[in-house]
Amino acid sequence: VSAPSHGVRVELGERSYDVCVGAGLLDDLASKLTALGAVTSVMLVTNPTVRALYGATVEQAIEPVSGKPPLVIEIRDGERFKNLATLESIYDTALDAGVDRGTLLIALGGGVVGDLAGFAAATLLRGIRVAMLPTTLLAQVDASVGGKTGVNRRQGKNLVGAFHQPSLVLADTLTLATLPAREYRAGLAEVVKYGMILDSDLFALLETRIDDVTAADATLMTEIVARSVELKAGIVERDETESGLRAVLNFGHTVGHAIEQATGYTRYLHGEAVAIGMVAAVGVSVAVGNCDPSLGRRLEKLLAALGLEK
Ligand code: NAD
Ligand code: GLY
Repeated sequence: VSAPSHGVRVELGERSYDVCVGAGLLDDLASKLTALGAVTSVMLVTNPTVRALYGATVEQAIEPVSGKPPLVIEIRDGERFKNLATLESIYDTALDAGVDRGTLLIALGGGVVGDLAGFAAATLLRGIRVAMLPTTLLAQVDASVGGKTGVNRRQGKNLVGAFHQPSLVLADTLTLATLPAREYRAGLAEVVKYGMILDSDLFALLETRIDDVTAADATLMTEIVARSVELKAGIVERDETESGLRAVLNFGHTVGHAIEQATGYTRYLHGEAVAIGMVAAVGVSVAVGNCDPSLGRRLEKLLAALGLEK
């Protein structure tokens, strides 16, 4: 009996794609990749941490798709390596190996791997296909969906990049089991964000199932990740390049980014800073009379229960 899984279609005309969410889905990778059509070769971008955990499964699934083992490009693990130097190393390895327009790039990892590999795919040969295999909660509910790619500069995060939609996203919720607890909690902040801005039922689900959420129950998390992706897809479909509406996804991020920058990106994980930012944003809304104070209290209580208090 296979575990429950969900498919979310992101409708963007010729750039439409499926986001598959489920426990154990990496085992179905070969068939999902085959459905993308012919590929001349596959390049896998990952980092040593994630490769040690999931590399063998993924590399095995890729081989029959292109008839040869993938070219594996390992990048260093950490936000500080999300830069042009790493991007150049991806370009050079790919070009030396003879990448062509039929090459499929696969990103296996969290948001850092996804943003870098996505930007490489957007720019190599003016654009090749990319499939995202997100392995952090943050990447499953947010970074892997919507086509934002890029790198950091000393002036700030994500200041150089491109919109480049993936051809497939496959989020295996079993991978969350190996995630460090702090990274998992930080990802939950983005789920709380969706509950606050778009879905009071999702917010209430988090409140009532706090123990299962904290324990990363695979069935519940499949439901929660899929719902989050649906919500994000609904926004991206209406405002792909953030001319207005998509900015709603930045709820809590104004103060959150300021906190990250003021503390040199070392003290808080992104989701932790966003949690503080959401409380601050609701505080302002309450102060100007745009929000019921009880919502602020519920938000703080939920974040504290998830281990995201200041
Ligand atoms: P990350 O990619 O740095 O991953 C966090 C850590 O977890 C890393 O050390 C990684 O190696 C490790 N890891 C990944 N999967 C694992 C697993 N299953 N088991 C054990 N360890 C695992 O961080 P992140 O939070 O995934 O992503 C943050 C990045 O995402 C930031 O650069 C941010 O700007 C970007 N982002 C992009 C978007 C977008 O729309 N493109 C949206 C949100 C965030
Ligand atoms: N993470 C916000 C967005 O994708 O727009």
